[in-house]
Amino acid sequence: MRLRDDEKAMLAGDQGPAVQKAMDLLVRYGEALDAECLVDTRNVAGTIGATTPFLRQYAEREGGMDAVFSEFNLDSAEVVRIPKVKVFSSHLQQGIDPRHAERQGISQDVVRIYETGQAYSSGLGVQPLNTCTPYQVGNVPVKGEHCAWMESSAVIYINSVLGARTNAEGRESTGAAMLTGKIPYWGLHLDENRRGTHLIQLDIDVSTTADWGLLGYWVGEQVQDCIPVIEGVSHQPNLARLKHFGAAAASSGGVEMYHLVGVTPEARTREQAFGASRPSATLRFGEAERRWAYEQVNVTARDAQVDFVMLGCPHYSLEQIWEVCQLLEGQRLSANTELWIFTAASIKQLADVAGYTHIIEQAGGHVMTDTCSAIGKVLPKGTRVAAVDSAKQAHYLPAIMGIQAWFGTTAECVQAAIDGRWKGVLK
Ligand code: F3S
Repeated sequence: MRLRDDEKAMLAGDQGPAVQKAMDLLVRYGEALDAECLVDTRNVAGTIGATTPFLRQYAEREGGMDAVFSEFNLDSAEVVRIPKVKVFSSHLQQGIDPRHAERQGISQDVVRIYETGQAYSSGLGVQPLNTCTPYQVGNVPVKGEHCAWMESSAVIYINSVLGARTNAEGRESTGAAMLTGKIPYWGLHLDENRRGTHLIQLDIDVSTTADWGLLGYWVGEQVQDCIPVIEGVSHQPNLARLKHFGAAAASSGGVEMYHLVGVTPEARTREQAFGASRPSATLRFGEAERRWAYEQVNVTARDAQVDFVMLGCPHYSLEQIWEVCQLLEGQRLSANTELWIFTAASIKQLADVAGYTHIIEQAGGHVMTDTCSAIGKVLPKGTRVAAVDSAKQAHYLPAIMGIQAWFGTTAECVQAAIDGRWKGVLK
């Protein structure tokens, strides 16, 4: 790989052993990918902490958080002192919500390790956004900006909706990027790899957030890790719909970028979305495909009694919390059903000020931050049947936690929390 002088200096150790190891990792990674060079990045979103049992034990055994960063962010068995990050870096979701530890079944020992990890991360200069949606809380990359992000739902959002450029990075490459401000220049950093591969024509209106989730789930299954171009959008989707569409497509397939003709920034026209290439396949999305997706995301659901309603995958925006409050105000949840809504801590602060947290708590629900049920493996005790409004969560939660999950609209989920029973249907 061709290295510039500043990169050679880092590799030679001029900026200390941690930066040297970070550059060595990026060079090995780039060469494995056949990248010709590295590209500068000033925006990294990754993860550092040690809240999973394995990492907690590792931190205790090896003597602290530098050991965790060395091994799991820099691929180095030798423990080196980690300096402050070189570029703007955000922390993604964590494994627990320390403010709801007891309800989530998390011990105070784990909370202490979380707090140690949080202090360590902030000490390095990593922004404690603690969300899978940094773009909802102030980290909004601009069109053409080279980023190094992990978290599939965030990667697809910033590539597609914002026109920023990132591949789906990992814990190691984002850790190395934080210390160097570099990432291999390949994949979606390059113009030619951002063109559409499959044309998807919509034969039906796709309007609600649940519909966008179903469309995303079907598209991901069809195109896997290619780039779909969707044509025929009749209702302008908002942030929540684009977020749910992308999260679903990245779950059922490995989609990292999509184009919506007339909506997303690199697809003013179908021609722009495909560039010089032609679609390798043309597919149509109609009622049969929508029903197929609905049945897939409900494949584990059998029992109508719902123990748990989980909202906020990806983490809810303030608008989505407000929408739930419209449905919930003055109501009371079933005594047998828990409602947990996940969001970023800074959005919860706004929800607190706006009175939304109070409305949800008055009804018997809880607003949680930093994590989610699938990532944190946190459920109310005894949960057998959940209800979710996210195709992504419906895809992962039953597999990870061995429970049933209903998928439906936000309104159906809120009603299930009130009634304790699932009454949703595909309309
Ligand atoms: Fe976020 Fe958890 Fe969903 S981290 S995208 S809420 S699986």
